[in-house]
Amino acid sequence: MTDTTDSTTIKKLPGWACGLIVLLVAGIVALVGLMATSIVERRWEAQQPILVSQTIDQFESDNSVWGADYPREFDAYKKMTVDDTRTKYGGGFPRDYLDADPRQVILFAGYGFSKDFLQARGHIYAVDDINKTKRVKHPTAEKPDVYYPGTCWTCKSPDVPRMMGKFGKEADPKETDPIKLIGLGAKKFYGTNWHELKKDVKHPIGCLDCHDPKTMKLRISRPALREGFEAMGKDIDKVSHQEMRSLVCAQCHVEYYFKTDKDAGKKHYLTFPWNKGTSVEGMIEYYDNAGVKDYVHPISKVEVIKCQHPDWEMYKTGVHHYRKVSCADCHMPYRSQGGMKYTDHHVQSPLLNIENSCAVCHRWSEAELKSRVETIQTKVANARIKAEDALVAAHFDVAAAMEAKATDTELAPIRKLIRHAQFRWDYVAANNGMGFHSPQEAMRILGDSINDAQTARIHLARLIGSKGVTAPPKHPDVSDREKAMATAKSFQAGTPPKLLP
Ligand code: HEC
Ligand code: HEC
Ligand code: HEC
Ligand code: HEC
Repeated sequence: MTDTTDSTTIKKLPGWACGLIVLLVAGIVALVGLMATSIVERRWEAQQPILVSQTIDQFESDNSVWGADYPREFDAYKKMTVDDTRTKYGGGFPRDYLDADPRQVILFAGYGFSKDFLQARGHIYAVDDINKTKRVKHPTAEKPDVYYPGTCWTCKSPDVPRMMGKFGKEADPKETDPIKLIGLGAKKFYGTNWHELKKDVKHPIGCLDCHDPKTMKLRISRPALREGFEAMGKDIDKVSHQEMRSLVCAQCHVEYYFKTDKDAGKKHYLTFPWNKGTSVEGMIEYYDNAGVKDYVHPISKVEVIKCQHPDWEMYKTGVHHYRKVSCADCHMPYRSQGGMKYTDHHVQSPLLNIENSCAVCHRWSEAELKSRVETIQTKVANARIKAEDALVAAHFDVAAAMEAKATDTELAPIRKLIRHAQFRWDYVAANNGMGFHSPQEAMRILGDSINDAQTARIHLARLIGSKGVTAPPKHPDVSDREKAMATAKSFQAGTPPKLLP
């Protein structure tokens, strides 16, 4: 009955009063809403004064000094010491790819990656891990002069911009702009022996790599990314804030090589191969034009380019980039603490933090999101293995053709196809995230890789046939890491197994 009473009371009110009540209620709701946001924003603003710190030196590389001003970010940063997290294809623990995949021992035969190829850990381990890898040789009493390019430090530490700045000051004592100083000192840094710089490079990847200490704004501290943008005719200082939230990562999570140009006085100068664009095709064209090779494959004599980790380039072709979702959105999601919003500086696999990383945009359950990612990754992983099988077979087929006395002239176009096939495969394989960042692009590239490798094998079968051999080559057993290593070594030693009858 109360219902009717209420409705009659309302009915008794004139029409204009009803409208007024609706307006009033709407007004109150809006006001309360505004107040709530302003509370959040005021608290946020309350932090702003300490955001502009005068105490941090323009080249401060010690993360704990910054941490004193920004404890929330530093506490989260320190959580990166956790290195036993596992996801199906990622996580923080240092997985050795070669254990699970002996094909890669063959594909990287004769190159450092065939010795150990550990999956990335958290940023906090960057300096430790490079000091420990078997891929770097260390000076000994018998051999004190071991040279490695200083360039290898570039993506490991905030001591890098600091040292570049120091060398820059030596080159031009009048210059004061930190970014210009870094640019001026880069050449000397890259050209200095890695071992000589070891005493100066101590702090793992940190604040100075991504932030301007004066304003705390995101900042590009590495010259190579600036120069890569210039090569594409773009100005990195004109990008949007949202793009910066990915570009700070693109300082390191990209494909690169060391360029030596004696005329320009450049030795092992860190260079992104981007003047034909950032696609795999653009890079292949760049490297072919520049005649770049990282090693000559001991089985096939193919001139191989080792791909690094073109994470940003791959991500750029995916739907999340298209929808303006940045690396930081997934890998450094916002968190709140007592109504305060801050950026989670524990950079890690987003699958370990689905709630903050994905569920803010996707109203799917955590289990569903995780299984979507794993389904995508497994498809890419399977296609990747198919490409590896085709490539391993192609390298052995070239060896068989050489045994049948095929000439280098006859083999040149075939070797080039395999060089391209291997770079395409590696563009995907070396990418972090196992294809999740751009599933279709990853599959497209693997498809092309397999096609190139198998096309090479058709040419090889004809070539071997033209030498009077009709029996198929017998490929060595490389089904586990030891067997693969032994086979690789026999080719390196110039005592390969016989592949033809
Ligand atoms: C839409 C969310 C999203 C965006 C945007 C994104 N990532 Fe990822 N990233 C992921 C997921 C999911 C994985 C897979 C993690 C796993 O397998 O455990 C991943 C994996 C990685 C890994 C390997 C982590 C590990 O534990 O193996 C790295 C490194 C990485 N991403 C870097 C980047 C960079 C750099 C960018 C920007 C250029 C980026 N990501 C953009 C979601 C994202
Ligand atoms: C100064 C270079 C540098 C910058 C800048 C950088 N990274 Fe990294 N990142 C690395 C290196 C080097 C490693 C591997 C560290 C190791 O294994 O010791 C790594 C590892 C990672 C991992 C793997 C961590 C894990 O637990 O599996 C993720 C994820 C990642 N980076 C994401 C990002 C994102 C996102 C950004 C930008 C917000 C970024 N990185 C910026 C150099 C960098
Ligand atoms: C790999 C790049 C990277 C590194 C290294 C890094 N930050 Fe950040 N930081 C970011 C990003 C991205 C944001 C979000 C900025 C934005 O969107 O404006 C951020 C935001 C911040 C903010 C603004 C408040 C907030 O939490 O959003 C502070 C303060 C901060 N970082 C402090 C630090 C400190 C201290 C360190 C070193 C311990 C550090 N950062 C290292 C990328 C980085
Ligand atoms: C800032 C918002 C945002 C975040 C954070 C985000 N996504 Fe997305 N995601 C999108 C948008 C937008 C699309 C495009 C499809 C659409 O418009 O609905 C998309 C598409 C997808 C797709 C389908 C496309 C494909 O590549 O197959 C998957 C799967 C996905 N996201 C998973 C994730 C996962 C896992 C995470 C966390 C690691 C994540 N997303 C984080 C906004 C986001």
